[in-house]
Amino acid sequence: MPDEPIPLFNLQAQYQSLKPRIHQAALEALDSNQWLLGPQTQQFEAEFAELIGVKHCISCSSGASALQIALLAAGIGPGDEVITTPFTFMATTSSISLTGARFVFADIDPRTYNLDVQDIERKITKNTKAILPVHLYGYPANMEAIMHLANEHGLKVIEDCAQAHLAQADGVCVGGIGTAGAFSFYPSKNLGACGDAGCVTTNDDDVAAKARSLRHCGRAPDKAYEYLWEGSTLRMDEVQAAILRVKLPLLEEWTDARRKAAAWYEEGLAGVPVTLPPTPPAGWSQSFYVYTIRAERRDELMDFLRKRSIGCAVYYPMPLYMQPAYAHLQLDPQDFPHTQKACQEVLSLPMFPEITPQQVQRVCDAIREFYEADATV
Ligand SMILES: Cc1ncc(COP(=O)(O)O)c(C=O)c1O
Repeated sequence: MPDEPIPLFNLQAQYQSLKPRIHQAALEALDSNQWLLGPQTQQFEAEFAELIGVKHCISCSSGASALQIALLAAGIGPGDEVITTPFTFMATTSSISLTGARFVFADIDPRTYNLDVQDIERKITKNTKAILPVHLYGYPANMEAIMHLANEHGLKVIEDCAQAHLAQADGVCVGGIGTAGAFSFYPSKNLGACGDAGCVTTNDDDVAAKARSLRHCGRAPDKAYEYLWEGSTLRMDEVQAAILRVKLPLLEEWTDARRKAAAWYEEGLAGVPVTLPPTPPAGWSQSFYVYTIRAERRDELMDFLRKRSIGCAVYYPMPLYMQPAYAHLQLDPQDFPHTQKACQEVLSLPMFPEITPQQVQRVCDAIREFYEADATV
């Protein structure tokens, strides 16, 4: 009998366990006859802000729009340079370009896959206005050093928290450390809507006010047809907010379950010649959006696992500086040796709150088998 598939993510498990509550919440939101910026949205914003420990949460239509709004609200625009990582999802850089600013890549730290602070420092010019760290895979970027650098040079810091709900650096949740944070509630994320959704978080009243306006076409507060700046239609809808409110009280429990699964992986992969995710320092915690190892002969291992019905994926196989969309920039891959290597070696394994110790063990056994077969050749 073929093995039961182990998916990379298991959105169905979560949906099935919450189905009656999600249906009820969605129906109530529909019946309320309030479609946008109503009570569900307002309450979700208050509840998410409280959980993250941040003053303001501004809900919006996606993580990508949250990034763009956060940058614009922080005053980033044409002529400005924003330093970020090439080892991330497209929205990180497209959001910068959509403000009229220019992104500048720094290489990553090979251990954490997040921005290398020394390389950020090397890339600072008189036009640099912001740093945009991504807390990749749910592991916080080196925020202490980034904030130090930003304060020294008068730069804004926009945190890409799309993969890092409830991850903490020095006891503070990401999204509440820099000038602003941007979260994604894409369905597969640690907190996922039933469609696209996202939010901006900030402790800065002015950034919050501008972000609220920008997601709503730039409207002046309480004035239907007066616009303070050019914004766009980038709001979260009431149905998504209602669904997110069903899931939000479970986020801490789900995050703990992910951390437990990570500990099972660590145990199960002991002695296997792969590099495990970094261990955070005291006071830090990661949220394990995915569980990512570094592996030699990665593509062969991926085929081997898939043949055994084990879901796995590469985040990201192609660095952003090599994307066709950026061919015109003619960036040199040799400037980013750690990103180049990571793209060839990283592999993300099944990770979701409902994963069982037996499933993790099966993944670990398969990886061990792959390398043991290798040793006997
Ligand atoms: C690192 C990162 N940034 C930004 C985004 C964009 O989020 P969304 O898909 O909600 O627009 C994602 C989502 O995949 C992401 O992983």
